[in-house]
Amino acid sequence: MSAGTHRLWKNKMINHIDFIDNMQVIDVASGTGDIAFRIAKLAQEKHLNYHIEVADINPQMLEVGRNRAVDNNLFSKLNFNECDGENLPFDNESFDVYTIAFGIRNFTNIEKGLLEARRVLKKGGMFLCLEFSKVDDIFLQKIYDIYSFKIIPKIGEVILKDGESYQYLVESIRKFPDQKTFQKMIENAGFSRVKFENLTFGVCAIHVAIKD
Ligand SMILES: C[S@@+](CC[C@H](N)C(=O)[O-])C[C@H]1O[C@@H](n2cnc3c(N)ncnc32)[C@H](O)[C@@H]1O
Repeated sequence: MSAGTHRLWKNKMINHIDFIDNMQVIDVASGTGDIAFRIAKLAQEKHLNYHIEVADINPQMLEVGRNRAVDNNLFSKLNFNECDGENLPFDNESFDVYTIAFGIRNFTNIEKGLLEARRVLKKGGMFLCLEFSKVDDIFLQKIYDIYSFKIIPKIGEVILKDGESYQYLVESIRKFPDQKTFQKMIENAGFSRVKFENLTFGVCAIHVAIKD
């Protein structure tokens, strides 16, 4: 549905990470671990030691990720956890980096998820979130609306035989707070230096914050 652009968006998010040696990372709502594998690849290219906890509520997604880790000889570097991003089974101040891509929108309580993110990060740790957001141009917004409400559900229905899921997708995107509101929510969770970068005119945004 994104015509492959999601790969560029994900790489953009990962490029915000300050890579350090012995980096402890948690990727929440990881799905099959796409973000975790990208981080692993970059850390290896930089010859850095690292460990990544992959966390998702859906065991089937984790199973695909686990098999992928075995195939890529990364099983000792990635650990797969079936858990809720709103109640993470990790100690306070465990991680240098927390990532979440296209996941926080699905949380029942986003504020709680943000507090959990802050809790598990070490002091100085970095929070990175990639999520659908609000297009910042009225004309482009109209085109995006037509694509979202008329074309995406139709493609979902006709080609993928799952119109309902794609209807949920567009509705959940519309319900998610805009860039500045989400920035404020991250600040309210106690993070500092909260910034965001719009991608593709605001179709997506990357929010980055630090736990001081
Ligand atoms: C669209 S996928 C994103 C997967 C991956 N981050 C990516 O960008 O490719 C959203 C994921 O969020 C997970 N998810 C939804 N609610 C969650 C929650 N409360 N805690 C953990 N994972 C959750 C789903 O199981 C799903 O795998």
